[in-house]
Amino acid sequence: MEQINIGLLGLGTVGSGVIQIIDEHQQELQHQTGSAVSVSKVLVNNKTKERDMDTSHLILTEKAADVIEDPEIDVVIEVMGGITEARDYILQAIQNKKHVVTANKDLMALHGTELLTKAEENECCLFYEASVAGGIPVIRGITEGLASDRITQMMGIVNGTTNYILTKMAQEERDYEEVLAEAQELGFAESDPTSDVEGLDAARKIAILARLGFSMNVELDDVELKGITTVTTDDMDYCNQLGYTLKLIGLAKRTEERVELTVQPMLLPNDHPLASVQNEYNAVYVHGEAVGETMFYGPGAGSLPTATAIVSDLVATIKNLKLGAGSGFASRPLHTKAIQANEE
Ligand code: NDP
Ligand code: HSE
Repeated sequence: MEQINIGLLGLGTVGSGVIQIIDEHQQELQHQTGSAVSVSKVLVNNKTKERDMDTSHLILTEKAADVIEDPEIDVVIEVMGGITEARDYILQAIQNKKHVVTANKDLMALHGTELLTKAEENECCLFYEASVAGGIPVIRGITEGLASDRITQMMGIVNGTTNYILTKMAQEERDYEEVLAEAQELGFAESDPTSDVEGLDAARKIAILARLGFSMNVELDDVELKGITTVTTDDMDYCNQLGYTLKLIGLAKRTEERVELTVQPMLLPNDHPLASVQNEYNAVYVHGEAVGETMFYGPGAGSLPTATAIVSDLVATIKNLKLGAGSGFASRPLHTKAIQANEE
């Protein structure tokens, strides 16, 4: 059986989940791809750091070149985060004809078009399902499942950390700082959680969704954002007394005339379906002209849910690789009236 070698950039919350799924679901992966899949080399910051997983079957390195220049490696999975180095490593990997899977929404929101173009030029795959809503296949849902429709609106909870904080503040009357520390401990938050709590992480995801769902050149700066840093337990009490639930909601909406992209805390009536999305779970409502309203729901952060999306991208990559085709979730911008209105 053919062997597919994976190089991993990062072995933190998500990277360790990727190793676990590849190790434990080998039979499923072989069945899906017809190949034996294994991770050979892993880039980390610190090789000597104590880790709560067995790494004896892995080669850990602190040099990116060991992974991205290794001719034996077929697919590079980037789960280290950050922008500058991650972008450089992915570009080099593509240059070296390696297929890439990433969970990095910071990078895809800012440099997605450049990276996808490079991947296409080099006939490489670049998939990034895990970059939006962790374990929920929402990118595949809108780019493949709803490919025949005209999507007009996507609205939902796309950040697990803030949803975890708001849930615990509302239900257990706990302080913001205490619950944020817990979300960090559980691996939901970004290494710098400012981007979670100030709404930037959700804005990145909304930009990616809008780009793909609306086939438009949406930039991160197009998203108006407000986070949850000023929310107090008193605010939560007050909402509760009035029969409302406070949620951080991302919205991407288009009409013939304009596109609206926002992330902001919103009061939802307690019987609204998004009001019952709890903890690190995410949900995205999508409205398409033909399908009507459909909803994607599931765990939006965390080691194994996120790793599931990544390893599924790996399966898609290997299937493409066998067909000799490069691919990725790319938008082909359409020049609609809404875009023209925004440009004016
Ligand atoms: P962690 O901080 O847990 O892990 C990062 C890993 O990358 C660590 O193993 C670290 O090495 C390594 N690393 C970081 N920077 C470098 C560098 N410059 N050179 C070499 N190695 C480096 O992050 P997560 O696993 O939580 O997140 C990874 C990515 O996945 C991010 O892009 C994040 O936004 C995204 N993501 C995360 C989700 C989650 O629930 N956590 C969900 C969806 C996406 P060392 O171990 O030695 O410190
Ligand atoms: N920090 C992110 C969140 C991870 O809390 O949603 C998943 O993208």
